[in-house]
Amino acid sequence: MKIFLDTANVSEIKEGVAIGVVDGVTTNPSLIAKEKRPFRPLVEEICGIVPGDVSLEVVATDFEGMVKEGEELAQVAKNAVVKCPLTKDGLKAVKYLSGKGIRCNQTLCFSAPQALLSAKAGATYISPFLGRLDDIGAVGMDLIRDICQIYDNYGFKTQVLAASIRNPLHVIDAAKAGAHVATMPFAVLESLIKHPLTDIGLKRFLDDWAKAGTKL
Ligand code: G3P
Repeated sequence: MKIFLDTANVSEIKEGVAIGVVDGVTTNPSLIAKEKRPFRPLVEEICGIVPGDVSLEVVATDFEGMVKEGEELAQVAKNAVVKCPLTKDGLKAVKYLSGKGIRCNQTLCFSAPQALLSAKAGATYISPFLGRLDDIGAVGMDLIRDICQIYDNYGFKTQVLAASIRNPLHVIDAAKAGAHVATMPFAVLESLIKHPLTDIGLKRFLDDWAKAGTKL
């Protein structure tokens, strides 16, 4: 499973890429707004840091506007992927842009029928929002499982990008369900690494080593 960082913060992205386990980045208008930097230089910098795909989201809501913005966003870098919302116009835009060879990530997916239509429209990625479903008492992971099964049944090439991830369990359950990608905040990536027994074990090794007074 690929790991993407769900952030527009350059320091977090640099740190994640330096660890060597970050395959890509997803951004959205809220994440970009948090950085308080002009859009174009910020996303150009991000695309230059990340080895893989970087999703950049349109803010237009009509078909023509999404296509215009999508064509501009696709020019930012070779690894730029255009993110369009899962609306009627968003589906039309994904169909159009994909037909022109522009890779799209269809975002704000909250149901299996939405995901089916997005795959038919030719999306490269579908982004079901796990955490936001959990927030309203639905089981976000059921949606990931349903989409993986539906895409498998028909051999759709669209990759399932589990989004709105809040904790390590989301990542592991999405991996078990067969999601191709999990996008997560930097804090969740860090929580995947940390284990108290690792820290305790390392301390014990180093204490014993220090007591022995030997050298490598
Ligand atoms: O980038 C889309 C998605 O991952 C947003 O997550 O935490 O705002 O629901 P969240």
